[in-house]
Amino acid sequence: MCLNAQDSRCYHRAMTIHPLLPDLTGPDLAISWAPLEALSGDPHPDEWEDIASAASNRQKEFAAGRLLAHVLSDQLGLPPAPLRRADDRSPVWPADRTGSLSHCDTICAAAVGKRSAFQSVGVDIETIGRVEQKLWPTLFTEKEAGYFSSLAPDTVALETTLFFSAKESFYKCQYPLTKEWVGFQDVAITRTDQHALAIAPTRGAAQAWHAAPIHTVKISASHVATVMLLHA
Ligand SMILES: CC(C)(COP(=O)(O)OP(=O)(O)OC[C@H]1O[C@@H](n2cnc3c(N)ncnc32)[C@H](O)[C@@H]1OP(=O)(O)O)[C@@H](O)C(=O)NCCC(=O)NCCS
Repeated sequence: MCLNAQDSRCYHRAMTIHPLLPDLTGPDLAISWAPLEALSGDPHPDEWEDIASAASNRQKEFAAGRLLAHVLSDQLGLPPAPLRRADDRSPVWPADRTGSLSHCDTICAAAVGKRSAFQSVGVDIETIGRVEQKLWPTLFTEKEAGYFSSLAPDTVALETTLFFSAKESFYKCQYPLTKEWVGFQDVAITRTDQHALAIAPTRGAAQAWHAAPIHTVKISASHVATVMLLHA
């Protein structure tokens, strides 16, 4: 996308796009995060049509996500193509790729995978510590809340943020396959190791889209990311 090495905006952008989960990425999958301020630019006219009437902050985060997705698609050798928004607000990925976007106050993350290798991807970023205890009954099952209560107090903010983020990543990953709403009490998360979580339905049998691990990353002192990948 950055064809002109002398263009200072392109240079700045290249310097501030940080790979996420480099052990999992490669020729078929790219995942990165970047500060929103490094991702300013005009969206494709078709993309602009989907966001023209939104407030300016929302336009900025929308454009940032699109820009990052285009940079990652380019890294994978995929041709430029607009990333439209469906009526249900989910992204409509071109047929040759799948992916996922997330933004929060200051940063943006995106994942793009070749459709030949990935059925679906979910990515989510969150600011650590915003999942207050009063939200636990809404966001978490009793078993999840019991697990948080057993943790050392200085680890609770990080773990609750990761569990919340994991449910968001799962939702984004499963949606293209099922087109179904999933509530926070419909699934439960467990920690499987230091860098991975597992998800299971609280009612009914687990499906193929519950089977993959959800990877967790602390990307800075203030932000975490989670990523779910469903291979083809
Ligand atoms: C869709 C949702 C997951 C987005 O998460 P969020 O934390 O609000 O916002 P994020 O910035 O992380 O993600 C926004 C991006 O998600 C993507 N998105 C929106 N709806 C989506 C869907 N149904 N499926 C997949 N991706 C979706 C979009 O790309 C959007 O960015 P864009 O509008 O700029 O294109 C959330 O708003 C939502 O509706 N959650 C309710 C369901 C849920 O989370 N259940 C959890 C239990 S499984």
